[in-house]
Amino acid sequence: MIIIKSDREIQLIKEACNKTRETIEYLEEFIKPGITTRKLDALAEEYIHKIGCIPALKNYEGYPNTICASVNDAVVHGIPNDYILKEGDIISIDLSVSYKGYYGDMAKTYPVGNIDKEKQYLIKHTEESLYQGIEQVKPNNRIGDISNAVENYAKKHKLGIVRELVGHGVGIEIHEDPNVPNYGKKGIGPMLKPGMIIAIEPMLNLKGEEIYLEEDDWTIKTQDGSPSAHFEHTVLVTKEGYNILTKR
Ligand code: MF3
Ligand code: CO
Repeated sequence: MIIIKSDREIQLIKEACNKTRETIEYLEEFIKPGITTRKLDALAEEYIHKIGCIPALKNYEGYPNTICASVNDAVVHGIPNDYILKEGDIISIDLSVSYKGYYGDMAKTYPVGNIDKEKQYLIKHTEESLYQGIEQVKPNNRIGDISNAVENYAKKHKLGIVRELVGHGVGIEIHEDPNVPNYGKKGIGPMLKPGMIIAIEPMLNLKGEEIYLEEDDWTIKTQDGSPSAHFEHTVLVTKEGYNILTKR
């Protein structure tokens, strides 16, 4: 069932999304060569508590940490550990914050110092694929319109689409209906209505689409070892179109 949020719920989810964005922005200044992903996780957890929120991923289906920190060929769900970030890495941070029981969800891939041209290309076009999807958000459009826009953009730029993981409804729970795949046909799937809130989150690989699950049972990596990027926003369907709730 797809929830149409009330004005009051939208207001609270907006606040949760602001807190999520604020936390990611706080972390940004620490993403430099020399820091461990475990330290980034600790900083995020501390900050979230300081602003009166709860880290929503921690203990979610047994997930052990506050952030997902996925480096280079890690696609998503990277468990923070003692890996020390080095110049030339890329790191995807995925974060969900709970505020007064409501949720925001956001992810972004960052360069660590200077990165090569291929990684720059990957990051730039993965972010743009998210915005191509968001452009399709308006009443009477369908989920398939979003999916198709992301897919077309990714294909045009020869990036591998991760198909096993999808975006989702969000706000009252972290994961609600509907699924929002990053590939699909125009005009199919659930119709968008004002008051729906969805997380759109393309995960694109520089090369092949195939992925595998690491031995830690969480971290998902690309089969061919090519780098992967992930961008996610929580988006409200409005009468006019959309409002990106995790954007300033
Ligand atoms: N925030 C992630 C998402 O975008 C969810 C990660 S699930 C976890 O949907 F269990 F790995 F935390
Ligand atoms: Co999400």
